[in-house]
Amino acid sequence: MNSKEIRTHFLNFFKEKNHKIVPSAPMVIKDDPTLMFTNAGMNQFKEFFLGNSVSKHTRIADTQKCLRVSGKHNDLEEVGKDTYHHTMFEMLGNWSFGDYFKKEAIEWAWEFLTEVCKIDKKSLYVSVFEGSDDEDNLEMDQEAFNLWKAIVPEDRIILGNKKDNFWEMGDQGPCGPCSEIHVDIRSTDEKAKVSGASLVNQDHPLVVEIWNLVFMQYNRKANGNLENLPAKHVDTGMGFERLCMVLQGVKSNYDTDVFTPIIREIETITNSKYGKEEETDIAIRVIADHIRAVSFSIADGQLPSNTGAGYVIRRILRRAIRYGFTFLNTKQPFMYRLVNVLTETMGKAFPELKEQRQLIENVIKEEEHSFLNTLEHGLVLLDTIIKKNKGDAVDGRKAFELYDTYGFPIDLTALILSEKGLSLDEEEFNSAMQEQKDRSRSASEISKEDWVVLIDNAEQEFVGYDVLEANVKLVKYRKIISKKKGSNIS
Ligand code: GLY
Repeated sequence: MNSKEIRTHFLNFFKEKNHKIVPSAPMVIKDDPTLMFTNAGMNQFKEFFLGNSVSKHTRIADTQKCLRVSGKHNDLEEVGKDTYHHTMFEMLGNWSFGDYFKKEAIEWAWEFLTEVCKIDKKSLYVSVFEGSDDEDNLEMDQEAFNLWKAIVPEDRIILGNKKDNFWEMGDQGPCGPCSEIHVDIRSTDEKAKVSGASLVNQDHPLVVEIWNLVFMQYNRKANGNLENLPAKHVDTGMGFERLCMVLQGVKSNYDTDVFTPIIREIETITNSKYGKEEETDIAIRVIADHIRAVSFSIADGQLPSNTGAGYVIRRILRRAIRYGFTFLNTKQPFMYRLVNVLTETMGKAFPELKEQRQLIENVIKEEEHSFLNTLEHGLVLLDTIIKKNKGDAVDGRKAFELYDTYGFPIDLTALILSEKGLSLDEEEFNSAMQEQKDRSRSASEISKEDWVVLIDNAEQEFVGYDVLEANVKLVKYRKIISKKKGSNIS
């Protein structure tokens, strides 16, 4: 099955089980102060879970664009280094709002994977929440355990702790125990040597979680307490790219048809080869992943910037540019040239990519231009700092200078240092940053007397719609007094 067919099969399966198929919500969130980006399929349904509003449909399914790069769910540092984490990924999900609960969620997930997708039952493991004796004091999910026991042999059911088997959207919000389904795609020989059960949730690239079935029954309050939700719900999330990996018989998400067209294009543009050398492969995976995250964000209206969500996007793009620059020798903008192939691969399922293609290309190209300049200078300076450095920790003040004077991002400095087995003295960096803030605060403390008024009550008129140039009169100006030096500098 190609990826388009896999997506369609999933949606059709749940359509036949009376689910309403809805479009993906935007990946960028504008109306929830607890979240910057959609990090799970359930985000757009949060208010239904909390009982603050009522869904027109009690059963819904979709494929949702997600981004896990900040907050509770953050996979950024893993991306590229392994073969199955992503910044942006698609999450296939089915939901019940006070309708069906554990029994149907478990049975349908099993039916879809083993009967529609025809995954070998012997390669599947499931996990169940074991309970917790911490302040939440939660019971083991015996109900889920019994339901699974009727389907799979007991040695394939693994009890999991709160980290893996109690799903929370963020520090606050709907949550509940969950049952994960893991698949073991190792060779028969490897399976005979080490049991798959012992590799579940152990970061093994070939024993991976594909589907999480969350049984929503609590709301985590701001004070940390759990409160029962007004009704019980189902929230499931399946990693689309991982499912494609399993069904297409490959060992990496990047070898599926979701990524291969992008990787071929990167090889062509950068004159590199995927699958020959680890450093090159990591760079190619980073770029193939990040072009998706950045393009979808721009299509959803989030441009790179210096604050908030825009800064996160800028950092992702810069991370990719840096990997290209250092490991693929890309000294000219090139990422914008990947937007075309991405649109061809995903534009049918997500038409916003097609509609915004030109804008996406322009924004990425512009960002690449300006960052490549910074990068070239910054890398040379950082190299000098590293050479002169004594010990394992690099002077935070020098890193601050690089950031403040040359705009070289501090997370990039930290990343490069860690690649060289060095660390950054963050305390020194932070105190240099604080001193800088104090300096600019005192420089901007300007009193009324610093204004020189030339014309009182002057009239104003906005002419920007009609002309690009105009003669104006200066009505007042401000003297900037540098408090520190006590001198008049303008
Ligand atoms: N909401 C289920 C998941 O993200 O795993």
